[in-house]
Order: sequence, then structure tokens, then C-alpha cells
Amino acid sequence: MKELKILAVVIFFTLVTYYGVEPYAHHQMHKKVDAQGNEIVYESQDFKYPDLKAVTVKGDAAAGKAMISACTGCHGIESQKMQAPMDASASAGAYGVNPPDLSNAGAVFDEKFLVNFIMNPTHTAMVEHKFKEGSGKTYPMPVVAPDPQTAANIVAYLKSIAPKELTPKEAFVAACGRCHADRYGKWTQLGDVPKTKPNITTHQDPEMLAFKMKVANYQDSLAKYMGKLPPDLSIMIRARSEEFMEHFIENPQSQLPGTAMPRVGVSKEGFEKVVAYLEETGDPSKPKRQAVGPWVLGFFFIFTLLAYLWKQAHWRDLH
Ligand code: HEC
Ligand code: HEC
Repeated sequence: MKELKILAVVIFFTLVTYYGVEPYAHHQMHKKVDAQGNEIVYESQDFKYPDLKAVTVKGDAAAGKAMISACTGCHGIESQKMQAPMDASASAGAYGVNPPDLSNAGAVFDEKFLVNFIMNPTHTAMVEHKFKEGSGKTYPMPVVAPDPQTAANIVAYLKSIAPKELTPKEAFVAACGRCHADRYGKWTQLGDVPKTKPNITTHQDPEMLAFKMKVANYQDSLAKYMGKLPPDLSIMIRARSEEFMEHFIENPQSQLPGTAMPRVGVSKEGFEKVVAYLEETGDPSKPKRQAVGPWVLGFFFIFTLLAYLWKQAHWRDLH
């Protein structure tokens, strides 16, 4: 019995140490401070965007559809067989970045965000600081519909054509894919890395080379537009805590004041899908690891029990 008590005491202190020290250390190591050294405290807003104007009018999808050519002058809507007027490379040359295809916009972005974005893109995306008057820079997406009714109609149309459920990858592509590559997911800002075959005799792969050149050119325009090249997101989910990710994507300025990354306005489900994609590609063995966990614990439990019984059996005669 004495050994059991000792075991219980050891387990107790191990747990106390773990729960007491680990999250504390985590917090200390990931402390966020602003330029003045004050700690940044951020309250999660659950992707509700409370700073934006509430939508008080009801959108009419048919009226939105009639207006949609105001958007397809730049954006494609592939699911509706509407081609973007320029391909991604030419768009990047013109705007610095490829205007995203809007087929899935109604499913990945928050409705209130979209209505506000159409009425006032720079304010809604929190990039006004980059496009101040006199800076010589203008945001590439103009104010198409400054009144709430027209904006709400267009959003109602986008929602009416959006699929009910997006795959994690579709969500990532719609919300992040024009700016961020994901090497592990074989994603570039120009789409999936193509499957090519090198020439058997020369071992050259001109098709791949041409693709890489196009990606490099796109990234060049993007870096000029953004001020820096958005980082590859392959291992970001492991390098950053989930909490950071959530707060950063909900409100980039709250975590990295002055950052070039816009607030993209994903809905809560949209965010969860994006994270699922980043986990799938960045940490593909996680589900396996998690499935193994209970088995390992079970093994230790049974092993401990057997060892204890075995010891009891041996020492019985000696006591
Ligand atoms: C003159 C070209 C142009 C027109 C017209 C235009 N857009 Fe855009 N749009 C862009 C560009 C460029 C971007 C990407 C900007 C960036 O990421 O910095 C963009 C981004 C977007 C985004 C992504 C926002 C986000 O949060 O990531 C949505 C949604 C969008 N546009 C919807 C629309 C809708 C709806 C219309 C019509 C009412 C429209 N756009 C008209 C050029 C345009
Ligand atoms: C219009 C381009 C654009 C879009 C769209 C965009 N990002 Fe970014 N992102 C950037 C830029 C630029 C940076 C670099 C910011 C900096 O260092 O200030 C960045 C940085 C990041 C970082 C790194 C932050 C850090 O700790 O350094 C993460 C994580 C990130 N983005 C995630 C996302 C996710 C997830 C999405 C989609 C939901 C997304 N981004 C959409 C431009 C974009």
C-alpha cells in the first residue's frame, strides 16, 4: 500500500507541475507586446466583426445578379461560367494581386463583412493606413456600391450561388490562396503545382520550369503590392499557437500592429475550414498521433497494474 501512496503523490505533483507551469510558461514565452512594451490583451470576437455597420436591409439575390457585371469586370465566378477578364498573372501585373474567384465567397466570408467591404473596402479590410491620400497608392478594388441596399443585393446573390459546405481546401483557396503559397499542400498563388514529367533523355522539365517562372513573376508583383511577400503557410500552424492564428486572422492589426495583411473577413465556419486545411497539409500525422494516444495510456495502465500484481505475488511470502 505504501508504494501506491507514493505513486499517487508522484502523479499528483506531476500533474500540478504540468498544469501550473506549462500554460504559464507558454503565456510568458508568447507574450505579445506593442511598440511601447505594453502587453497586448485581445478579446476574441468570434468572427462577428462588431466594429462594422450592421446590415439592416434585406438583400435581393435577383437584383444582385443583375448588378454582378460590376464585379466580373475584375473577378471570375467560375461556378456560373463567368471567366475573369484576365488570367492570374495578367491581373497581378495590373492590380498587384489576383482578384479572387467569387464562386465560394458567399460561403467563406462573413455576410456583414462582405456588405461593408463592397461599400468601403479599405476601411473594412483595415488597410486604410496603406492607402492614405497622398501616398500615391490606391486600393485596386474600387467602391462599387456605396449604398447598403445594392451591396446587400450583391451579397445575397453571392450567397445564393455559394455551395452549402466548402472543403477545407476550397475555403483556403478562396480566402488566402491569392496571397499565400502552401508548399506542403502543393499550392502556389497560381493554383496547384502541375504534375509534369521530365524528359527521359535530357532530364529537363521545361513545363515545370515555365510554371515556376510564372509563379516567381506573380510573387514579384505581389511583394511589390504588399510591401513584402506573404509567407508560405505550410508550417505556420505548428509555428504559431491556434490562439494567435484565430486572433490574427480575425484582426491582423491586433496582433501585428501595422501589418500589411488585410482583415479578410472569414466567418467562424470559414476560419475553422481554413485551419483544418492548414492542419491537414502542415501536420498530416496529427489525427494518427491523436488516435494512438489512448492506446499508449491504456498500455501504461495495464502494464503498471501487472507490475504491481507481480510484485505483490513475489513479496507476499517475505512480509
Ligand atoms: C477593378 C477591379 C475590381 C472590381 C470592379 C471589383 N473587385 Fe473585388 N477585388 C479586386 C482585387 C484586386 C481584390 C484583391 C485585393 C487585395 O487582396 O488586396 C479584390 C478582392 C475582393 C474580395 C476579397 C475580400 C477579402 O476579404 O479577402 C471580395 C469578396 C471581392 N473583391 C468582391 C467584389 C465584389 C462583390 C465586387 C462587385 C461589387 C468586386 N469585388 C469588384 C478587384 C476588383
Ligand atoms: C491580400 C493578401 C493576403 C491575404 C488574402 C491573406 N494574407 Fe496572410 N499575410 C499577408 C502578408 C502581406 C503577410 C505578412 C505580414 C507581415 O509580416 O506584416 C501575411 C502574414 C500571414 C501570417 C503570418 C503572421 C506572422 O506571425 O508573421 C499568417 C499566419 C497568415 N498571413 C495567415 C493567413 C490566412 C490563414 C489567410 C486566409 C484566411 C491569409 N493570411 C490571407 C497577406 C495576405
